[in-house]
Amino acid sequence: MHLKSLSNVAMHETPFYSYDMALLRRTLAVVNREIEGYPFVVHYAVKANGNPVILSEIQKSGIGADLVSGNEILAAIKAGFNPGNMAYAGVGKTDREIEIGIDNDIYCFNVESEPEMEVINEIAARKGKMAGVAIRVNPNIDAHTHRYITTGTSVNKFGIDLHMLDRVVDLAIKLPNLHLRGLHFHIGSQITTLEPFRLLCEKINQLLDYYEARGISFEMIDAGGGLGVDYENPEANPIAPFHDFFQVFKDGLKLRHGQKVHFELGRSIVAQCGALISKVVFVKDNSVKKFVILDAGMTDLLRPALYDSHHKIVNLTSQATETDVYDVVGPICESSDVFATDERLLVTRRGDVIAILSAGAYGESMSSTYNMRSLPQSRFFD
Ligand code: LLP
Repeated sequence: MHLKSLSNVAMHETPFYSYDMALLRRTLAVVNREIEGYPFVVHYAVKANGNPVILSEIQKSGIGADLVSGNEILAAIKAGFNPGNMAYAGVGKTDREIEIGIDNDIYCFNVESEPEMEVINEIAARKGKMAGVAIRVNPNIDAHTHRYITTGTSVNKFGIDLHMLDRVVDLAIKLPNLHLRGLHFHIGSQITTLEPFRLLCEKINQLLDYYEARGISFEMIDAGGGLGVDYENPEANPIAPFHDFFQVFKDGLKLRHGQKVHFELGRSIVAQCGALISKVVFVKDNSVKKFVILDAGMTDLLRPALYDSHHKIVNLTSQATETDVYDVVGPICESSDVFATDERLLVTRRGDVIAILSAGAYGESMSSTYNMRSLPQSRFFD
């Protein structure tokens, strides 16, 4: 993988995100191959990584964009995505953000509440336009993922509960400046078994039958994102199991004539192409534990501190043949600024270069300037 090509990495100022553009292109090619011949449309969830170079590469592959803020819509347009292939989701869209979507004629707003639907209609009417909308349904499916990234259960702030759905569908049909395009679902992220997606297909089929009986049809069903990646063995599994994932929908959905299925994939497209590269500032031995203290911290990659998630860590420059066990930590004044505990690494010294793998999704995009730190830089390799 590209890490081997980082032989001169010690020259670069750290920390920085290193992106393997060849892997990104291979991943996109697999996605496009798997959907070919099916009425499937993939939108890239820009929140996973909005780096302009990454966006422009993804845009070139022809897939669309899934956005969660007005600024993401503008960034996607700047990167060349076609607004007619954009969906905009989020529970708290402001009037200004809704205007950005309407002014740019995006394909649809994924609407999460009745008041939001009324406001989109009002703003569209004021501008003399029609706004495409999909209703985000909370299907009450537990995706068995981390509680911070489970979204499809009833106790969650996302989507419209099934027992209220009729009312919201009727409202969307009634409001004159809305064009109801379909139903939208997203059950969570980093889902590593296919069962939740099978359950989702069943739920979608039930709803299609139900609404067909009521004389309502949809041009599009949005099945959301959520396909997980292999954080433990990224080198062995650099590309997410797209074949199996799409097969579930090919087998499971009973689509109506002309109906399209949209997907909003974030992590599975970009996670494995990015690594956070950092240097060891100190190795500290406090007699109970050895700490590798990096120049990267939770401000550069928040996932371990926020979700207790584990990313594989490798020492790129150690000349040692033996290994040792370390807690790998950042320099930030927070006890949660820990990348890994009891991680086995090649014997590590001050100045060694460390790669934290699978950091392309929700890494750079969640970075911050806490402690007045600089945002991480990015570099691109082929
Ligand atoms: N669609 C909607 C409505 C979403 O909320 C999300 C992610 C996606 C699509 C893309 O899901 P993906 O394919 O990436 O799983 N920061 C967390 C993940 C938060 C996911 C938020 N929503 C993490 O680092 O694990």
